[in-house]
Amino acid sequence: MQITEVKTIGILGAGRVGTAIARRAIAAGYAVKIATSKAPAEIALLLEIMVPGAMAASAQEVIAESDIMILALPLSKYRELQPELLASKIVIDAMNYWAPTDGTIAEFETETSSSEVVQNFLSQSRLVRSFNHMGYHEIDEEARPKGDSERRALAIAGNDMGARQSVAQFIDRIGFDPVDAGPLASSRLFTTGTPVFGASLTRDDMVELFALKQAV
Ligand SMILES: NC(=O)c1ccc[n+]([C@@H]2O[C@H](COP(=O)([O-])OP(=O)(O)OC[C@H]3O[C@@H](n4cnc5c(N)ncnc54)[C@H](OP(=O)(O)O)[C@@H]3O)[C@@H](O)[C@H]2O)c1
Repeated sequence: MQITEVKTIGILGAGRVGTAIARRAIAAGYAVKIATSKAPAEIALLLEIMVPGAMAASAQEVIAESDIMILALPLSKYRELQPELLASKIVIDAMNYWAPTDGTIAEFETETSSSEVVQNFLSQSRLVRSFNHMGYHEIDEEARPKGDSERRALAIAGNDMGARQSVAQFIDRIGFDPVDAGPLASSRLFTTGTPVFGASLTRDDMVELFALKQAV
């Protein structure tokens, strides 16, 4: 099992969820680098205002210089990602399939979670699904110190145990309780439309919900 010491977080996407995670990461002491489909100079001012301390860079630079990558772009754009650049990287998939905004996309109209489709595309990456079930404003506002009785849980699922462990440490450090649901197929427990999605859950609540669902 390979556990990475995480110092730098790279984010693809500087919208609602990308900037919210970036602010938490900076507050927790990580270096943060962000890319969008635009040139770095075009997002530098936005980052200065929205995420002071984050650095704008090209996707190539962000990926090369980051220990954990976060996908915070619209899911409909996932084929714009470059699998060879993300090979062997720990990649958090925060993306959801939401037909009203993404449009109907046949490959996501299935029982599997969208992260399984993304993992197939990024076949050499150590993909972990997380953050997708929490609203961006809650990522900003609901972080709490370890041990706080109101600390909220964030589910994680991925096929690489070391990647799950690194992501769990990151989540813990930015103010949430990680709940390891196991392999990536278990991310079906917290995709859009599940009871976990959008719910305000502590670690114990979430563990109980997952156990109930798995027992069915
Ligand atoms: N909003 C939430 O509360 C929330 C919570 C959890 C998960 N999510 C999921 O997270 C994802 C992002 O949601 P959002 O609400 O943050 O969307 P958003 O506000 O529309 O932001 C999307 C960002 O992705 C960038 N982008 C587009 N194509 C890109 C590419 N090829 N490479 C890099 N960046 C690219 C966009 O910038 P350019 O177009 O300028 O490149 C923009 O900065 C979605 O899949 C959503 O379902 C959202």
